[in-house]
Amino acid sequence: MKQIFAAVFVIIVIISFIVVAFTLTQVQQEEQRLKTSLKQRSILLAESLKETVQPNFINKSDQQLQNLVDKFEDKQRLAGMVIYDSKGDTIATSSSLITQVLKTKKIAEDAMDADGANGDFVELTNEKMYLLAIPLHDEESVVGALMIAQDASYIDTRLTGIWKNNLLRLFVQASLISAAILLIIRWLIVEPIRNLVKSLKSTRTEDLEQNSPGLPTNFFFRPLAKEITNIRGKLKEARLIADEEAKLGLEKLNSPWTEQRLKVFIKDVLKDRTIFMVSNREPYIHTKKGRSINYYIPASGMVTAIEPIMEACGGIWIAQGSGDADKITVDKDDKLNVPPEEPKYTLKRIWLSEKEEAGYYYGFSNEGLWPLCHIAYTRPTFRKEDWEEYKKVNGKFAQTILTEIKNIERPIVLIQDFHLALVPRIIKNSRPDASVGIFWHIPWPNSESFSVCPWKKEIIDGILGADLIGFQTQLHCNNFIETVSREIESLLDFEQLTVTRNGHTSFVKPFPISIAFPNPSKEKSANSDTRKFLKSLNIKTKYIGVGVDRLDYTKGILERLKAIEIFLKKYPAYVGNFSFIQIAAPSRSKIKEYQKFTEALEKEVERVNNLFRKNGWKPVILFKRHHTREEISRFYKLANVCLVTSLHDGMNLVAKEFVAARGDNKGVLVLSQFTGAARELKDALIVNPYNGEQTAEAIKVALELSPLEQTKKMRRMREVVKNYNIYRWSAELLKVIVNI
Ligand code: G6P
Repeated sequence: MKQIFAAVFVIIVIISFIVVAFTLTQVQQEEQRLKTSLKQRSILLAESLKETVQPNFINKSDQQLQNLVDKFEDKQRLAGMVIYDSKGDTIATSSSLITQVLKTKKIAEDAMDADGANGDFVELTNEKMYLLAIPLHDEESVVGALMIAQDASYIDTRLTGIWKNNLLRLFVQASLISAAILLIIRWLIVEPIRNLVKSLKSTRTEDLEQNSPGLPTNFFFRPLAKEITNIRGKLKEARLIADEEAKLGLEKLNSPWTEQRLKVFIKDVLKDRTIFMVSNREPYIHTKKGRSINYYIPASGMVTAIEPIMEACGGIWIAQGSGDADKITVDKDDKLNVPPEEPKYTLKRIWLSEKEEAGYYYGFSNEGLWPLCHIAYTRPTFRKEDWEEYKKVNGKFAQTILTEIKNIERPIVLIQDFHLALVPRIIKNSRPDASVGIFWHIPWPNSESFSVCPWKKEIIDGILGADLIGFQTQLHCNNFIETVSREIESLLDFEQLTVTRNGHTSFVKPFPISIAFPNPSKEKSANSDTRKFLKSLNIKTKYIGVGVDRLDYTKGILERLKAIEIFLKKYPAYVGNFSFIQIAAPSRSKIKEYQKFTEALEKEVERVNNLFRKNGWKPVILFKRHHTREEISRFYKLANVCLVTSLHDGMNLVAKEFVAARGDNKGVLVLSQFTGAARELKDALIVNPYNGEQTAEAIKVALELSPLEQTKKMRRMREVVKNYNIYRWSAELLKVIVNI
């Protein structure tokens, strides 16, 4: 629309320019014409007056001259007269001109000197006048002058009138032309294009059995509309074939899973049961920026994994609304359709008060459970007030879910992560017909570590409300079963890995989470010009390392920097030739431990950089802000080595994203042995992040690995991620849950 207005604006400017130029010429010509005519009329008038004045002048009858002058004062355009003697003194003057006589004298004198008519336009008594003087003669010589003053202000009035008329005409023309252009553009271009886009979109996203929304029939777009109809037909055929193939592939879990295959699977296996996804973190956060509203996808492994499933299956995702524009982007039921550009499922937001968020999210979840579950040597903090808020907010989430599933038969409720441990029990108690699953995205520690939690029994009991409890690894399942056996009374089946309590059985199973691979729609050709991009960041080194993390003490970023220091000290040939880019998304920054960690990281970056800095080069570049997925993908694609050195991590999807981004089969992954991902990505260089020397050595090996070896390793890792992608993860989880 902006461009259309710009085009109309340009047209109006051009028209205005033409009208102004035309009016200028018209005004000049008219002025010329009016002045000439006034001059001619003045000469005629002066000559005829001269015949009356001259005899009186010669007879020296001043009184008669004055009477004559008075008689002609203010007659039509004649404003007045002045009669001068040969010295230029006035003999008779119209009263209206008395005060101005001095100004007129020069004109009269010039007329006498030249012995001929002399005229000029002057400003008298605030009005424009034309003064014309002609000499008076006795028989031999010039004895005086007669000067008449004609009102010339009508010339300006006339010229202003022309300007006014033309400008008014311009305004009317411009308005009509703009309206006409806008109407024509809308009718001939915008509407048809809008319909074309709608039709193309429905071709891509909707059921092709339905009729295509009105394709434009006008002359310009007819060939394009015809092509779209053909494409719809072809696509329909292709989808039928893909559905058939997907159905054939359903039984063979080893063949690659795709979004399409998951859709078919859900239709076949779930029949019409609706999925309700529940998590603390929402997939789209809306924020205000000046007057506009933007959104971003948060840095969260959970979101990375779950979002593609929702895009494939539809349904409702219930999560906390945390953006400052979240409230203005939902409808009256606190819902909105997402992804914003191409809605595929519904996001329902839950609102928490500051106190609730402080106790439930920052306090119990992130200062209590997070460090409790991650063995990263940060002590958990448990406060009674936080626990109270945690219980309250879990109840709030549960009530929202219960309202949503009120009229739904046998709904499937999938709860995500440690923020909502009490929800499964509440749902199951109210709706025994619901299939409830909870997936714990972070590690589950050994039973001894977990036993320090003051409300461990309530947490375990809450989780056991679920029919299916998923963890990232078998070890975390074992830890959970061991914790249950140690903390509460229940019947355990170590072979089946089930827990039965009060007549309800929960299955405990590992489901190593993954990413959407392949994901061509989101895959942009990121580094069309890598070197140029690096140059814009002032990075000119031959080797690039990259790290992508939330600013979290469990990610081992300080240990990573230490390893880089050891590497550069041990292998000085890399000094000046290796740059490490650390992308760090701010996270949970209201928590003291996170603030301290961020400060420590900044200091450490400074310290390491100061050790090696030379000629404008420094080894570590820290980008401390939120990056979009496209931006991150760009860094993955240009790195020689990606460092994932978490001290403890449920899975770590950065490792899998790096592998998925490397369609060129190049680049090396250095991966902490304490991540879930290390169990699958065996071709990474596996390190103990606490062992700086070992990580430093791995960096060197990575940078010196032959291209052939890199390709071999990367290919194998890509096969792993491709075969166990998020579509397969959800299919396996859903298959178990519907069969319980
Ligand atoms: C981990 C958790 C997720 C969480 C993410 C980001 O990956 O398992 O549930 O969303 O960290 O943390 P945040 O507190 O910002 O949601």
